[in-house]
Amino acid sequence: MKRDTQIFDIIELEKQRQLKGVELIASENFVSDQVMEAMGSVLTNKYAEGYPGRRYYGGCEVVDLSEQLAIDRVKKLFNAEWANVQPHSGAQANAAVFLACLKAGDKFLGLNLSHGGHLTHGSPVNFSGLMYHALEYNVKEEDQRVDYDQLETVARKERPKVIIAGASAYPREWDYARIRKVADEIGAIFMVDMAHPAGMIAAELLENPLKYAHIVTSTTHKTLRGPRGGIILMGKDFENPWGIKTPKGEVRMMSSLLDSAVFPGMQGGPLEHVIAAKAVSFGEALDPSFKIYQQQVRKNAQTMAQSFIDKGYNVISGGTDNHIILVDLRTKFPQLTGKVAENLLGEADITTNKNMVPFDSRSPFQTSGLRFGTPAITTRGAKEPLIQEIVEFIDTVLSNPEDAKTIAAVREKVNATMSQFPLFGW
Ligand SMILES: Cc1ncc(COP(=O)(O)O)c(C=O)c1O
Repeated sequence: MKRDTQIFDIIELEKQRQLKGVELIASENFVSDQVMEAMGSVLTNKYAEGYPGRRYYGGCEVVDLSEQLAIDRVKKLFNAEWANVQPHSGAQANAAVFLACLKAGDKFLGLNLSHGGHLTHGSPVNFSGLMYHALEYNVKEEDQRVDYDQLETVARKERPKVIIAGASAYPREWDYARIRKVADEIGAIFMVDMAHPAGMIAAELLENPLKYAHIVTSTTHKTLRGPRGGIILMGKDFENPWGIKTPKGEVRMMSSLLDSAVFPGMQGGPLEHVIAAKAVSFGEALDPSFKIYQQQVRKNAQTMAQSFIDKGYNVISGGTDNHIILVDLRTKFPQLTGKVAENLLGEADITTNKNMVPFDSRSPFQTSGLRFGTPAITTRGAKEPLIQEIVEFIDTVLSNPEDAKTIAAVREKVNATMSQFPLFGW
């Protein structure tokens, strides 16, 4: 076959885009060359429905080794007793938990999407809101932190079967112990979706939810810096039989329910090339250098939050405990929407995303906020002085929305700066 230059030229364009710009999307990162190599390996050719040692296809003895290695490493990384590394994405991992724990129409409780929650935690346009009865809790207006009193009130009144903690745009630590307490009181399953802060949790910079939750889900591609994918973990509760009976009357363990929910419940053949890449990234996260990286991610996030505050921006909750900074633009630029701000910054090769802020007066298509994150820029080697410079770039662009010349000048500076921060073997 002749080389498909059409697609490889497009891939090269994307590579150049990534190299020349400042990447501040909180859910993105740059994987290592080894992670990339495993993803592009011969393992993509293999069908392996089932789990290591119990597959529906022949020839799985080699992929069994890599999937088992991924399981062993992720258990060690998060101090888990049980792991499933097959979910194709974070949404698939969450869907599998729903399938294992709920019947259609059952109640569950999650953080309001416009207060930082994720689509899969009950949005009306997502399977979670379409198939199940979604209830929500909010953050408080005065400090934009989770309203645990409200969470408890709703939980006691509605008695949801599952309570979810975790979010896409919440810059603060969680009080997992408090949620577990109310979950136990009403007999609910407590699930934590740690997709965003997983890397920081692995580096022990944030509380490990496995100590409190019955079930923990995550993506592998955000702070954790692995390939795109999902995982499901359990800690000490994994042996609980949950009283769920099969048609034959046997009581099933949650681990077995979750395995069945992923395959054959949600998915067919696992992506063994991605699972091998997950194993590589878990190995990287077990290395002491990963902790140093995560410490820098957090230092950079705190520097960014403070730099925005110093320039008169309203940083939601007044700062950050993790890698996320959520800015309410209305304080400094009442007329500027998140949508316009995202586009303006894009013209300067600074990539961010518009985001709802708690109690937003605008729609999700416009929004009043921008979400920033430091995992990707830190992987490129950014330290505090570069972060301060980037906030200066952002402020210049947002203060001059009509001035194409100023924005072009910022883009030139961004490109020149980023050329000094190469990526792995690129
Ligand atoms: C908290 C949370 N859960 C789940 C997901 C879904 O992950 P994926 O995009 O891999 O399906 C995300 C993605 O942004 C997320 O932020």
